[in-house]
Amino acid sequence: MAAVAADPSSAPSAALAGKVALVTGAASGIGAAIMALFEREGANVLGTDIRASGSLFQHDVTDEAQWDAAIAECVARFGRLDILVSNAGTAQAGPIVDLDLAVFREQARVHVEGAFLGIKAAVAQMRKQHAPARGSIITIASVAGLKPIMQTTAYGTAKAALINMTRAIGVEVGRKGDLIRLNAICPGGTKTAMTLALFDESYWADASNFADMPLKDYCRPEDIAEAALYLASDAAEFVTASHLTVDGGWLLSDRI
Ligand SMILES: NC(=O)c1ccc[n+]([C@@H]2O[C@H](COP(=O)([O-])OP(=O)(O)OC[C@H]3O[C@@H](n4cnc5c(N)ncnc54)[C@H](O)[C@@H]3O)[C@@H](O)[C@H]2O)c1
Repeated sequence: MAAVAADPSSAPSAALAGKVALVTGAASGIGAAIMALFEREGANVLGTDIRASGSLFQHDVTDEAQWDAAIAECVARFGRLDILVSNAGTAQAGPIVDLDLAVFREQARVHVEGAFLGIKAAVAQMRKQHAPARGSIITIASVAGLKPIMQTTAYGTAKAALINMTRAIGVEVGRKGDLIRLNAICPGGTKTAMTLALFDESYWADASNFADMPLKDYCRPEDIAEAALYLASDAAEFVTASHLTVDGGWLLSDRI
């Protein structure tokens, strides 16, 4: 069949054209994939990370003053903030008797306090920009916050709190008449630096580890990025105070 010349007027417009996003934990894995997809979809993105990496803004999400600096940098570079993806995180695994209080607190500090500080600063910035305020705030939680997974006491507890906090703030800002939407994404096991530190390459290469999942595979960072794109875009303008699971159906499997 003869090729049909593309009609530029019918090309779909970029989903995030003209929007400004801040993505934390953007040096690696899911955050890097979200930043890349958002940029491809037309957004100006300030990627941040605790690690110095390329053009990323160095930013520890657990430090309130550094949140002020990151938002100020975003506004200085791109004029405003429309989308926050609170993604930065670290993993924890091990039996309860070996779980130090310091590790338990560190998980809460990064996943709950870090997201709390970011959401608070982003809502304040979005309210300065427009009345009623507009924006999309996305937290990267986990299926571990929805279903207990063996030996992830601190991580799963922090992620459960993160899901509830995201939804609670979504309810609050909606009631104040703002059009700021807050939603959590709950990824299933995704092959990134974080999970490679827990399970080596042989685990990911062994299909039997995923055989009882409906989609029989693990997640890629790009799968999570597509979900973030949807929630960030105007296509999700009536979606708030919710959570979206992206796990190939893992929650319905018998694995814990
Ligand atoms: N990989 C998975 O299976 C999986 C599943 C569910 C949820 N998640 C969540 O996805 C998010 C991203 O994880 P990933 O798998 O891409 O891991 P990753 O290790 O590849 O990336 C995490 C990034 O966060 C950064 N970071 C850590 N602490 C930080 C801090 N205090 N301030 C700023 N940056 C910090 C790290 O430097 C790193 O670049 C995390 O919140 C994680 O809990 C991951």
